[in-house]
Amino acid sequence: MANPEDLEIVSSPLAIVIDELHSKYKSLQAGVVANYIPELAKVNPDLFSICIVTVDGQVYEVGEYKQLFTIQSISKVFAYGLALEDHGRDYVLTKVGVEPTGEAFNAIILDEQSKRPYNPMVNAGAIATTSLIKGSGATERLNRMLDMFRRYVGHDVFVDISVFTSERSTGHRNRAMAHLMLNFGMIDKNIEEALDLYFQQCAVMVNCRDLAVMAATLANKGTNPITKEQAVDSHYIKDILSVMYTCGMYNFAGEWAYKIGVPAKSGVCGGIIAVVPHQMGIGVFSPPLDARGNSVRGVKVCEELSQRLCLHLFECSGR
Ligand code: DON
Repeated sequence: MANPEDLEIVSSPLAIVIDELHSKYKSLQAGVVANYIPELAKVNPDLFSICIVTVDGQVYEVGEYKQLFTIQSISKVFAYGLALEDHGRDYVLTKVGVEPTGEAFNAIILDEQSKRPYNPMVNAGAIATTSLIKGSGATERLNRMLDMFRRYVGHDVFVDISVFTSERSTGHRNRAMAHLMLNFGMIDKNIEEALDLYFQQCAVMVNCRDLAVMAATLANKGTNPITKEQAVDSHYIKDILSVMYTCGMYNFAGEWAYKIGVPAKSGVCGGIIAVVPHQMGIGVFSPPLDARGNSVRGVKVCEELSQRLCLHLFECSGR
């Protein structure tokens, strides 16, 4: 038997790659933190973490991976899954399309013919999606949403009340979208309740490890690879990943699909999740954003991870 003192400690290749990328991009000073929600402007722009969780439950992380932040638009992915479970694919499709917009995430546009918002990953579509969440009142709907997040991350989650109220009192653009959709009968008349739930889901607090576990759950057909709990019906994974792939990075979605080639979603918090089906979930957190609202360091890290680990869905053989 080998003497334990003679054993060389070998780091996993994934740990080495994320350590290298963290060191490489930590000094990158570009982008600005989101400031249209006053509370978000207070974040430290130097925070930077990367986490990978594999579908067999291995966790690799670097940087401030325990730092909490609000999930923002990344929540749209998971709310979409819940709406699909609540109503089924066909009904949800009558209310929210699956077409990329090529526009900013907060564009006030609906499909000319159907009057639907274009897709569930942009604000208008996400508000419509959230308005579909079932429950006998606001509290039950919020609790169902929080329980859904709990299944994905593997522990209870909470809403950051100051971010929620900050967005609720300044989110006039989102309110305008809700009114437009109400006008066309795309959402229920109780728009304030739908908006509150939308602002609350955006203000759910997570850390970078949570992001990676959530992404890995999607990579693992809806089963959380750590807790083994089914977070979403596996039947809807293809719907969720398809809209992430085509619409998750807003007006950068085409370039992302071309260069990086995996389903992903970003948020103005500076988080990005990327899903490598049947392999792993990736979470990156770095608050400074580019002009399209995507984390500058996050995009760089994912681009290089995709190249170095051969993650592009259409490039890498054997999948
Ligand atoms: O509705 C909003 O503006 C925010 N709560 C979420 C926006 C967001 O994260 C868009 N992402 N890039």
